[in-house]
Amino acid sequence: MEEKRLVDVSWPEFKALEVQKKGPYFSQEGRLFHVLIAQQFERDGLDRLCRLATCVRGIAKSKTGMRFLSGLLDHRRAMLDFTQPSSRTFLSFYAACQILGVKVGEVRDPSTSSEMKGESREDTVRTFSSYFDLLIMRTPQQGFAERMAWLLSNTGRPVPIINAGSGRDQHPTQSLLDIYTIQRSFERRGGIEGKNVVFVGDLARGRTVRSLAYLLTKYPGVKQFFVAPKELQVTDDILGQLDAAGVSYEVSYDFESVIPEADAIYMTRIQDEWDKTPGESKKLDNTRYYFRHDHLALLKQRAIIMHPLPRREEIDVAVDADPRAIYWRQVRNGMWIRVALIATIFAMDDEVFRYYNANLL
Ligand code: NCD
Repeated sequence: MEEKRLVDVSWPEFKALEVQKKGPYFSQEGRLFHVLIAQQFERDGLDRLCRLATCVRGIAKSKTGMRFLSGLLDHRRAMLDFTQPSSRTFLSFYAACQILGVKVGEVRDPSTSSEMKGESREDTVRTFSSYFDLLIMRTPQQGFAERMAWLLSNTGRPVPIINAGSGRDQHPTQSLLDIYTIQRSFERRGGIEGKNVVFVGDLARGRTVRSLAYLLTKYPGVKQFFVAPKELQVTDDILGQLDAAGVSYEVSYDFESVIPEADAIYMTRIQDEWDKTPGESKKLDNTRYYFRHDHLALLKQRAIIMHPLPRREEIDVAVDADPRAIYWRQVRNGMWIRVALIATIFAMDDEVFRYYNANLL
C-alpha cells in the first residue's frame, strides 16, 4: 500500500477516514512504525512476522542465541503505559522487550501520575515520548493511541506507538499472536487457508475478535462463524468488512450445531465491564455458549480451541488436558510475535533472519 504521512492530514480528516484507509499512515519509509489497527496489515507482512517469530523462538533456545537477541536493541527504551487491567499483554510485552535488550519503564496506575494534578492524557503521553523510543499503550478509549500517533507526528517527538488494546475496538497484537497460533497449528495441513474459525461469546464488545475477524480475511477460503446470544452478537461494521472482502461467514445462535464444523474455536469472556447497566449481561443465558467437557466429543480430531484469556466459566477447566486446547500455547506465542514485532519496527528483522540462517539452518 502507498505510504501516507500523518503530518499531511488534520486530526479531524484523519479521524473521519474509514478504518481500511488508515493503514498507509502507520508506516514510515517502507517500514512498520505504529501498530494500531488490524487493518494496517497485509498478508506478506503477516507471513513475515510469523516467520520471524519462529526464528526468534529457535534462536532463544541457546544461551549464545539469547545473548545475540538481547544485544539487538539494548540502546532502546520502551514505555509500557497500561491504564486498563492486563496480565498477559503487559507481561508478554515486558518479556519481549527483555529478550531484545530494550529497557522498560511502566505506568499502570494513573493515580500515581501527574494526571492526578489535572494533566491531560495527551500531555502525559507526550512526556513519555520525551524519554522513550517506543510507547506500548492499553487504554479504555477507542482511538486514543491513534490520536497520540497523530499528535506526536505533528507536534512532538514521533515515536512508534503499539496499541495493546483500545477500549472495545481493537487489539491488533493479540490478533497477530492468534494468527501465529493458528498458522503454527495448521502448518502441515494447508495453513490457515480454507479453515473454519468459530468465534464464541461476547462478540459485540470483544476487541480481540474484532481484530482477528479482519486479519482472517487475508487468508483465502476461511469461513467465519459467529456464535453468541443475540445481545452480544458480532456488529454490522465487522460483517460489513467481511462482505467487502468477499469472505463467507455465518451468524449462529446454536453452538452445538457449529462445533463439528470448526477447525478453530475461539472462545471469549463476557466483557461485562462494558455493561450499560451493571449486571445486565449476567442476566443473559450465556451457559449455552460455554465449552463443556462433553463438547470435546463433537469436535474434529485435529481442531484447536483458543481463548485470548482471561477465562471465566466459558471453558470448563477439565478441557485443558485435551491436546486440542491450546490457549496456554497461545500465551507463549504472544511473547514471540511481540519480539518479532518490536524487532521489525526497529529494523532488526533482517539481522535476526541472517543469524538464524547462519547458525540454525
Ligand atoms: C483480552 C483483552 O484485554 O481484550 N485479553 C488479552 O489481552 N489477552 C481479552 C479479555 O479481556 O477478555
